[in-house]
Amino acid sequence: MAASPLTDYEIYIRTAELLALQKRPEALACHDELQFQIVHQTAELWMKLIDHEMRYLCRALDEDRLTQACRTLGRVHRVQQLLLDGLELLYTMSPLDYMRIREVLGRGSGQESPGFRRLLALGGEVWPHFEAVLARRGLTLEAVYRRASEHPEVHAVAEGLLDFDLRLQEWRNRHLLLVYRTIGVGTPSLKGKHSELLERGLRTQFFPRLWAVRDELFDQWSRTHPGGATRYLSERTGEEGP
Ligand code: HEM
Repeated sequence: MAASPLTDYEIYIRTAELLALQKRPEALACHDELQFQIVHQTAELWMKLIDHEMRYLCRALDEDRLTQACRTLGRVHRVQQLLLDGLELLYTMSPLDYMRIREVLGRGSGQESPGFRRLLALGGEVWPHFEAVLARRGLTLEAVYRRASEHPEVHAVAEGLLDFDLRLQEWRNRHLLLVYRTIGVGTPSLKGKHSELLERGLRTQFFPRLWAVRDELFDQWSRTHPGGATRYLSERTGEEGP
């Protein structure tokens, strides 16, 4: 019997090629390997989309289309949520199943992920485009945060960039918990002690100025509010602070 012709959907989505990218059931090292493969493959696709969107963000910033820049960042945040959800799926895998996968993974490591390497490069690439927006308006970051209502669009972009950074850190945190859940805290990995390596990553900031400006604002606030929150609280409750 002749094979039925491909539908337009199958041709456009390229389902035949896409669904051939996973191991066949009889070749799987264990039941959970299909999930493991699909979570990693979709993660690479979502990171490809983030890269595409962040390049568009740079163009929008260059052209002072700040409403569009915020919309793009909103989309990127949703894609980042999908990356977080993918890790959550792997919370359902047992250590023994991962060991079976590890046997066929060779020397493969997430550190070699091309998508993640792109994400790591993005921080340094995007920031100059945002700094140019500030420069064209004669603004400092501190002024944007002090008078957010006078610069609502620039402020919204800054907060959107911070949320991008935050969600990447959330991903790294959740990934570390997944690693602990799966292979324990002390097990050495292919690249040495994974907890040290991954915890170092947790301290990376993609847009350090956006974190520093918070310190600056609170530093000034602390100087004009000696006693800080302690005094504020004691004034409200009528009690002495510690
Ligand atoms: C049970 C699931 C997983 C385990 C046990 C695991 C384990 C590890 C370990 C031990 C490392 C440290 C480097 C090394 O020794 O290879 C690592 C790094 C990494 N893994 Fe995973 N991983 C898992 C799932 C994932 C998934 C779903 C992704 C999605 C792309 C991923 C992406 C990465 C990335 C990007 C790094 C480098 C992290 C960084 O530089 O902060 N991993 N993984």
